Amino acid sequence: MKINSDRLLENLRALRKFTDTPGEGVTRFSYGVQDANAKAFILERAKAAGCTVRLDDVGNIRIGLPGNEPGRPVVLCGSHVDTVRNGGWLDGIYGVCGALEVLECLAEGVKTGPDQPLNYEMVIFAEEEGSNFGSTMTGSKFAAGKYADADLDKLTDDQGRTLREVLAEQMPPEAAGKPVLTVPWDLTNIAAMLELHIEQGPVLERAGRSIGIVDTIFGMRVIEVTLTGAGNHAGATPMKERRDALCAAAECILTAEEIVSADPEERTVVTVGKIDVQPNCSNVIPEAARFSLEVRDSDADEINGNMERILHAVRQIAMDRGIYCGVREVSQSDPIRLDEEIIRQIHIAAEEAGIPYLLMDSGAVHDACMIAEAGIPTGMIFVPSIDGRSHVPEEDTKATDLIAGAQLLLDVIEKLRGNKGE
Ligand code: GLV
Ligand code: MN
Ligand code: MN
Repeated sequence: MKINSDRLLENLRALRKFTDTPGEGVTRFSYGVQDANAKAFILERAKAAGCTVRLDDVGNIRIGLPGNEPGRPVVLCGSHVDTVRNGGWLDGIYGVCGALEVLECLAEGVKTGPDQPLNYEMVIFAEEEGSNFGSTMTGSKFAAGKYADADLDKLTDDQGRTLREVLAEQMPPEAAGKPVLTVPWDLTNIAAMLELHIEQGPVLERAGRSIGIVDTIFGMRVIEVTLTGAGNHAGATPMKERRDALCAAAECILTAEEIVSADPEERTVVTVGKIDVQPNCSNVIPEAARFSLEVRDSDADEINGNMERILHAVRQIAMDRGIYCGVREVSQSDPIRLDEEIIRQIHIAAEEAGIPYLLMDSGAVHDACMIAEAGIPTGMIFVPSIDGRSHVPEEDTKATDLIAGAQLLLDVIEKLRGNKGE
């Protein structure tokens, strides 16, 4: 079966317009207006195809194929529609549009009905980027049972609102009243999960391959460090008498970079992507600096070992500078190897299609991690990112690669559902 490549690209281009920052990349946070608009667009297409829609307590959406039989095992396929601030047009939404394209192809009646051994559902996970609450894969963590009810009160946004409060106010309109699925989901009848995604790095492009078959997804640990010194006048306070929280933060950040850069395998990465300075005035010595710090690797021991070395150094720097240091653990996910049998099926489908592919790891995390961690056979298909750019407005992928990835997704789903395709 062939996908409708014009429809795939049209959907992607239409969804690109749902952004809070037109002309400056895509900014579409979960539970916001543009997130709701993007989901409404997708649901309109799905409903036109006769699909059923279910929403859960945290805003994850599952869309069932019209031919699905109650109780039959499900192949789940999807990703997220939320973005980082001033992000790209493909991260997440490409996997959602790929899953939608598969849904529309299957719903066209070619391969549905009681002879099918597996149902097909597409999924849109909420708050994958953690743009509101600082924790990546939030929706899938709830779906898979890694987060529970109490976490609705622990997760807070920059305005101090809890996820429970935000959900009470902003539950997406597609809820049509109430969620119909509770979290954690009953995962017992999910036979497999597939996620299609852009690579977000330079590996495929440099290797000249059109498809990445994901082996291991990196784990990550995120902390928030708050350094509190003493504010004072920027002109009248001698250098030796300062307890400048921002200078301390700068030293901590460069030290973290030095520690992680010493990795001989050059695999571990550390990032401080967010910093808040108080009072943030040019003529006041900063009293407080709060920054995020995340470490990622495909080996959990490396993540924790590097994080402990960094934390030791951060505390020492703060002490030497007479600064109070507070550390809060924000989120954590283990590295995860994806399912061997699904990897094999993707491999076979890529061979049959004659597409150049590569088995590779993912430095970015994905909702697939949480589903895989819950024991569901899970696979991921990557397509190249031009110049390896992602989480920035320049994020892009060649149309031919976008089409090849979605076609491969359909081919693999056909295989898993026992059809050879035609
Ligand atoms: C998600 O994009 C992540 O890897 O942070
Ligand atoms: Mn993503
Ligand atoms: Mn992302």
